[in-house]
Amino acid sequence: MALQVEVLQETFQQIKERTDEFAISFYENLFHDYPQIQPLFARTNMIEQRKHLIRALMLTIENIRDTETVNDALKQLGERHVQYGALKEYYPDFCAALLKTFELYLGENWTAEVKQAWIDAFAAISQLMLKGAEKKAG
Ligand code: HEM
Repeated sequence: MALQVEVLQETFQQIKERTDEFAISFYENLFHDYPQIQPLFARTNMIEQRKHLIRALMLTIENIRDTETVNDALKQLGERHVQYGALKEYYPDFCAALLKTFELYLGENWTAEVKQAWIDAFAAISQLMLKGAEKKAG
């Protein structure tokens, strides 16, 4: 899949100054729309977690051309997610909440092209993470 790297990087720039706010909104959307996911975070330090999520997204987008490094990092992240209870069927929910939050933050810059670029990017990210998770499950 050919990812729209410039589009992804440009749109990410637009939330760069507001990442903490963005992450707060993201988890609010996720837990509101998919309450079954909230218990997974029962013992999580959400202040740290917000930073982890943003760092992972930024690193992925900034290094997306460095395919091998990004692929390995995402597979390892997916492998760790098995122990967090992140089932395969939760990945689309997670992606939907991310898209919803991006839409909220990008406003009129959330065009059909930008939306598609992020749908493709999250599909690729999820696919790699799940590959790592399957490896772990054996
Ligand atoms: C699809 C993209 C996703 C990204 C980029 C992402 C990113 C992260 C990162 C960076 C961490 C910090 C811990 C670590 O590095 O191992 C983390 C932890 C976690 N994630 Fe995700 N995640 C994703 C999907 C999911 C999904 C689908 C779920 C389940 C609904 C989930 C649930 C969790 C939980 C429960 C933790 C553990 C927090 C703790 O340490 O208590 N994540 N995630």
